[in-house]
Amino acid sequence: MVEFRNVSMGYDKGHDVLSDISFKLETGTMHFLTGPSGAGKTSLLKLMYLAHRPNRGEIMMFGQDVAKARREDLPKLRRRIGIVFQDFRLLDHMSAVENVALPLRIAGGKGPQINEHVEELLSWVGLDERMLANPSALSGGEKQRVAIARAVIRRPDILLADEPTGNVDPEMSERLMYLFVELNKLGTTIVIATHDNKLVEKIGAPRLHLEKGQLLHIQGSKKKFSDYEGPQ
Ligand SMILES: Nc1ncnc2c1ncn2[C@@H]1O[C@H](COP(=O)(O)OP(=O)(O)OP(=O)(O)O)[C@@H](O)[C@H]1O
Ligand SMILES: [Mg+2]
Repeated sequence: MVEFRNVSMGYDKGHDVLSDISFKLETGTMHFLTGPSGAGKTSLLKLMYLAHRPNRGEIMMFGQDVAKARREDLPKLRRRIGIVFQDFRLLDHMSAVENVALPLRIAGGKGPQINEHVEELLSWVGLDERMLANPSALSGGEKQRVAIARAVIRRPDILLADEPTGNVDPEMSERLMYLFVELNKLGTTIVIATHDNKLVEKIGAPRLHLEKGQLLHIQGSKKKFSDYEGPQ
């Protein structure tokens, strides 16, 4: 379960970019995070992946207030969270396969099964031909798919995706959504920031909506999402 209680945050000494945010996401739910550019979506995700601390409020995750977690405990908590960054953040000295395998290797995985598993996933997202390429040689949409594969490969407890379909065509974005829905069915709690209202409607998961740093409404936040059958 993820719960924000009266959370506010800002950068440096500037004004709050998120004000008095409260919501509760049950374990195993899937939500979209919507709102205009600059509304605070990425900032909210930063709080959830523990890259930034709030100025005020409590953030309950993994049974504790992570806003007050000790710095040395953060890496262990972060390992339970998969993230797709808006700007991908792939490691450029590694191939696509190596990037995606990294979370498994960090978790102590060894041997050829890892690569098999990674290659299967990369093939599913349409990257058969580009697995050995380094990120600098990939298109925006290809990088995005590598970033998604890296975030889901370990079946994290929580998956946060920041505009994960911003660089791919509608057909591929549905395919990627299907991947998120399948992961959600396995129990991962998912939050996807997106501008793509068509996709939000099609998938039908409830949304958290931000405007100017305020959470405006949550539709059906307790609904467990599981009806989407994938691209037809
Ligand atoms: N590192 C930073 N330092 C200072 N201000 C920041 C920083 N990052 C974001 N902001 C400001 O915080 C506000 C919220 O930004 P945020 O990136 O969370 O918006 P967003 O909803 O993700 O927008 P977009 O849809 O364009 O990605 C904006 O006013 C932005 O200018
Ligand atoms: Mg953003």
